Amino acid sequence: MLEVRDVTAGYGKAQALWGLSLEVAEGEIVTIVGPNGAGKSTLVNVIGGLQAAWSGSIVLDDQELTGLATHRVCASGVAVVPEGRRVFPEMSVTDNLDMGAYHREARQYRDETYEYVCGIFPRLAERSEQLAGSLSGGEQQMLAIGRAMMSRPKLLLLDEPSLGLAPVIVETIFDIIRDINQTGTSILLVEQNVVEGLELASRGYVLEEGRIVREGAAADLLDDEELQASYFGM
Ligand SMILES: Nc1ncnc2c1ncn2[C@@H]1O[C@H](COP(=O)(O)OP(=O)(O)O)[C@@H](O)[C@H]1O
Ligand SMILES: [Mg+2]
Repeated sequence: MLEVRDVTAGYGKAQALWGLSLEVAEGEIVTIVGPNGAGKSTLVNVIGGLQAAWSGSIVLDDQELTGLATHRVCASGVAVVPEGRRVFPEMSVTDNLDMGAYHREARQYRDETYEYVCGIFPRLAERSEQLAGSLSGGEQQMLAIGRAMMSRPKLLLLDEPSLGLAPVIVETIFDIIRDINQTGTSILLVEQNVVEGLELASRGYVLEEGRIVREGAAADLLDDEELQASYFGM
C-alpha cells in the first residue's frame, strides 16, 4: 500500500536521508529501528508530509503523496503520531481528539470514529473533559494515538510511542497498536525498544546514517547475531 522510492531529505545543506526505499503492505506492521540520529524521525515526517522530500517518491495505493501539503497527505489516509506526543495541553481530551478529525470525510464520520477511539482507549473516555496537560505520560501517548485515529487513516505512522514511558505502560501501548492493526490499519512503527518493536512486526528495516542497512522478516532480524550484538543489548 505504501511505497517509498529513493527518498532523500535533510535540513539546510545537511542531508539526513540518502536514497531510502521501503514498503508497507496492506494490513502489515513494519518496524524501523536504528540508533539516535539515524534519520527515523525525518523519514516519518517526510512520509507524513510534515517535511518535504528533496527527491524520490512516496506513493500510497497508487496515489502520489510526494510534495502534498500535510492536510492533503492526511486526507489521503496517512496519520502521524509524532515523537514526543505533542498534544495540546490547554485543551480538553475531546477537543484534542477532534483536532484529528478536521478533513471532510473524517468530520462526516466524527461521532462513529469517536466511539471507536473511546472503545480502544476507555481511559480517554473517562477523562474526556480533562485538560490534556493534566494527563499522565502514558495517557498523553494514548491521546496522541487516538487523535491520529480520528482521521480514519489507512496507514498509521508512530514515532517512538514508548519513549519515556514505564514498561507496564509500554506494554499497554503495544497491545493497543496490535489492536488497531487488527481492525484494518496498516502500521509503520519507529521504535527504540528494538526487540518489542520487532516482535510486533511482520517485517523490519534497520536504518543507520540515513540509509537502510538491513531489511527482512522481523523474526529473522531478531535472530541475527550481528544485530543482536549492536542493538539488542541497548
Ligand atoms: N530540525 C533539524 N535541524 C537540523 N538537523 C536536524 C533536525 N532534525 C534532525 N536533524 C539531523 O538529522 C539527522 C537525523 O535526525 P532524526 O531524523 O531526528 O534521527 P532519529 O529520529 O533516528 O534519531 C541527525 O543528524 C539530526 O541531527
Ligand atoms: Mg527520532
